[in-house]
Amino acid sequence: MLELADIRKTFRLGPVEVEVLKGIDLRVEAGDLMSIMGPSGSGKSTLMNILGLLGRPTSGSYRLNGRDVATMNDRELSAFRNENIGFIFQSFNLLGHLTALENVALPLVYRGSGRRAARRRAVDILEKVAMADRLDHRPDQLSGGQKQRVAIARALVGTPSAVLADEPTGALDSDTAEEVMQLLIRLNREERVAVVIITHDPTVSLQCRRRALIRDGSLLEEAAEAREAGAA
Ligand SMILES: Nc1ncnc2c1ncn2[C@@H]1O[C@H](COP(=O)(O)OP(=O)(O)OP(=O)(O)O)[C@@H](O)[C@H]1O
Ligand SMILES: [Mg+2]
Repeated sequence: MLELADIRKTFRLGPVEVEVLKGIDLRVEAGDLMSIMGPSGSGKSTLMNILGLLGRPTSGSYRLNGRDVATMNDRELSAFRNENIGFIFQSFNLLGHLTALENVALPLVYRGSGRRAARRRAVDILEKVAMADRLDHRPDQLSGGQKQRVAIARALVGTPSAVLADEPTGALDSDTAEEVMQLLIRLNREERVAVVIITHDPTVSLQCRRRALIRDGSLLEEAAEAREAGAA
């Protein structure tokens, strides 16, 4: 699965060096549901970019499904990302000129699946997020919650090992946010996909079986005993 060991990330802006991640160790297993909280600027998105193969760490090792990703070139990383990672963003990041169905089928088209197979799989997954009656709608013809359901379908369409969600409920009202969380929880269970959610919202975090906090460049995970006590 996802295994980070002593991951560090330093940004250099002119003469100024900022060490954002100072030695992160993290294992994410199949079926995990984990939240990561932390103050603004603490490095949550930086960590998510590394986990999602969108950014490389300054040092440390990252093995994804047993492969050391540091050895891959950019083209190999893109293909590996397409196969293994799904993304969900606060602002949905759907393509405005494509329909819901086309948006969801796109990751499969990129990986070279035939159009018909991609379409069939996209319809299946859109049914799972209760969007089968909106296949031909473009993003501007959907509500915020519907857009996020389409984005969730797109994240899952390629049967990734992990879905990484950066503030998935941040742009939604509280009822819609709760629906989106219930959907993520259900799909985490049904599809056995690991889900890592970055959030500022304690209600979102409390629904996750694993909870961690980034502070001063370190990742602190709540102990399992505390979680169980909290759940009891
Ligand atoms: N490309 C970059 N170049 C320089 N500094 C960067 C870069 N990307 C991020 N940073 C810095 O790294 C720190 C962490 O940024 P990051 O986006 O990971 O924070 P975050 O925890 O996601 O915050 P937020 O909750 O506001 O989204 C910030 O201080 C930011 O300014
Ligand atoms: Mg962020």
